Amino acid sequence: MLENLEAQAPDALLALIKMHAEDPRQDKIDLGVGVYRTNDGATPVFRAIKQAERKLIDEQDSKSYLGPEGDTGFVTALMPYIFGEDATMGGRIQGMQTPGGTGAVRLAVALAKAAGVDRIHMGTPSWPNHAQILQDVGMEIAPFDHARADGTADLDAVLAAITGAGPRDAVLLHGCCHNPTGVDYASAEWEQIARTLASSEVLPILDVAYHGLGQGLDEDVAGLRTVLAAVPEALIAYSCDKNFGLYRDRVGAFYMMAKEPAQLDAIVSNANSLARANWSMPPDHGGAAVRHVLRDPDMTREWLDELTDMRERMRRVRERLAAADNEVPGLNLAALAEQNGLFAILPLSKDQIAKLREDHGIYMAGSGRINVAGLHAGNTDKFIAALADVTQG
Ligand code: LMR
Repeated sequence: MLENLEAQAPDALLALIKMHAEDPRQDKIDLGVGVYRTNDGATPVFRAIKQAERKLIDEQDSKSYLGPEGDTGFVTALMPYIFGEDATMGGRIQGMQTPGGTGAVRLAVALAKAAGVDRIHMGTPSWPNHAQILQDVGMEIAPFDHARADGTADLDAVLAAITGAGPRDAVLLHGCCHNPTGVDYASAEWEQIARTLASSEVLPILDVAYHGLGQGLDEDVAGLRTVLAAVPEALIAYSCDKNFGLYRDRVGAFYMMAKEPAQLDAIVSNANSLARANWSMPPDHGGAAVRHVLRDPDMTREWLDELTDMRERMRRVRERLAAADNEVPGLNLAALAEQNGLFAILPLSKDQIAKLREDHGIYMAGSGRINVAGLHAGNTDKFIAALADVTQG
């Protein structure tokens, strides 16, 4: 039977990690997969997480099974940061831990499917794994344009998608720091989206994978909160990969908002059984470490400081690139200063992207997406000069 399987191409983004690692050039630059890097190009464990891990090792007295919902202390400790003061929206929100944000997206889509959704509207371009997950769960994808060529959000496209949607449709929105464009909706645009959702039957699914890496912890979820205040139900996928630096530990959470508190038990029971069939229960360690950070005021402060440093560093990189707009005409680098998070899309051709890799040792996704956190004071000038080289002539 197994001989019937056709070879699949490796995931393009993950393949870049390997290609970059094998490049012997000292001055190579990795702008591929979305991990935060310091000014030295490192991706260190957060200081707050190190402290929490020490405490965890001292205090943890069992590694016996938890349930499919994982560490509920972790799940609830995150909620005020995401949903605000009334973190359950009057008892209408409940969550569970998932293996990374990917597990949360998977669960959101599978739960939507179980509830009768058969089509999801999705702004494109999007994180490539979104489409892969939707297809794997058997969802029809209805694409709409996320951004305009000038590097701003295409509000008309998302509103038209929602207005034209059917009763078995959902829409997948990025909460902040849009991957791959960095183009987020402004608050007035979120209000229009929320109003349009409220007068439709569309189920909103919000993916929040970069919370705190755009404008600030509250600012980055202001759009999400606007939507939740307007609609009866929603599903929220959350990742701690980037904002706690826990990538390989796979730490995520999935939240369900019901119309009425009384409906939550049935909804959550469906999510639990889907989780059980998929991964049984999530890995514990990273979620437990986050719980320790969020329950200890000193560790929380340390985490908030680290997050602020990351956000400000990426802002400086964006400003440096925007200031080079004249040096590399045609790429609209100026727009990067208005965008958020780790990513931006540069309108480069496949040949130009290959030339950057081959001639300059600069690695980026085939879509032209760059991870701005891969740039720092020591390599940004080289990057700008390389862009000028491949775009001129
Ligand atoms: C990315 O888009 O680079 C990250 O979200 C990592 C991943 O899993 O693709």
